[in-house]
Amino acid sequence: MPTLQLSTVNYQLSTINCQLSTVNYQLQIMSRKKVLLTGATGRTGSLVLEKLRQHTAEFESIGFARSESKAKEIFGSTEGFMFGDIKDKSTIDNAIVGCEALIILTSAIPQMKAPPAPGQRPEFHYPPGGMPEEVDYYGQKNQIDAAKKAGVKQVVLVGSMGGTNPHHPLNKMGNGNILIWKRKAEEYLIDSGIDYTIIHAGGLVDEPSGEREFVVDKGDRLLANADASRSIPRADLAELVVRALMEPHAKNKVFDVVCKLKEDSPAKVDTDFAALFAATTSEL
Ligand SMILES: NC(=O)c1ccc[n+]([C@@H]2O[C@H](COP(=O)([O-])OP(=O)(O)OC[C@H]3O[C@@H](n4cnc5c(N)ncnc54)[C@H](OP(=O)(O)O)[C@@H]3O)[C@@H](O)[C@H]2O)c1
Repeated sequence: MPTLQLSTVNYQLSTINCQLSTVNYQLQIMSRKKVLLTGATGRTGSLVLEKLRQHTAEFESIGFARSESKAKEIFGSTEGFMFGDIKDKSTIDNAIVGCEALIILTSAIPQMKAPPAPGQRPEFHYPPGGMPEEVDYYGQKNQIDAAKKAGVKQVVLVGSMGGTNPHHPLNKMGNGNILIWKRKAEEYLIDSGIDYTIIHAGGLVDEPSGEREFVVDKGDRLLANADASRSIPRADLAELVVRALMEPHAKNKVFDVVCKLKEDSPAKVDTDFAALFAATTSEL
């Protein structure tokens, strides 16, 4: 074949290759899961958003927050954010359009009234409009209702261990009954018929991640075990939240989770998330 014809064929082949990779890229974009993350400027929520943004092939993430300036301060820009208040249904309805998954990382936030006097315990209150009934029950209910209306297929909700005990000290904080309201919202999610992953985290700590072994259990048994760890680094929890969107075994599951220190023999660093979720069960 004359050289000119060969180079024409080569040119056409490279054009086809280029078109194929464009189609591949478009298919990849189209198959990404669109995820709305509420509480995206929170201490755990912001870590989850960072991780979702690292999984560009799998997720298109939207952070939902109430403060534009806080989002800018943490992420440098408000790109990929929608703003609103979970107590205002219409703002969530707007943000959740087209989403396949919702991650709920909002929570009522107790505030210390004043530094305690020496030897005294600190006292807490919730800001006006920020009581657990308003934020952790009605605010979460609004999110679940919006998810149902928008045809969302999975909700990952981060709650707290301690919910089996109505007399838990956290319920006394600011007379808010926070764990009771969080549990009521979890029941509402289960009854909604949407696939759920409810994670009851132990005490959250800001320590390095990926250096510990997850321990999952149920019904606050870990709190009754004096030898068990009671805490989990926020970044490890964030990893678990993202994995819950990727592993089929995470659907319709409720579990307590803490982390055991790697140094504690025979602890190991967990990487098999499929096995971890498979070991959990569906009832509250
Ligand atoms: N702290 C612990 O030791 C502990 C233990 C077990 C489980 N948990 C649970 O783990 C989750 C994450 O905890 P965290 O300490 O990382 O959370 P956090 O920093 O307290 O974040 C809570 C988020 O909720 C948002 N929020 C509150 N009210 C809202 C409203 N009306 N509308 C929109 N957003 C609202 C806050 O917005 P702003 O960013 O604007 O404030 C914040 O982003 C929570 O559900 C918590 O209950 C915590």
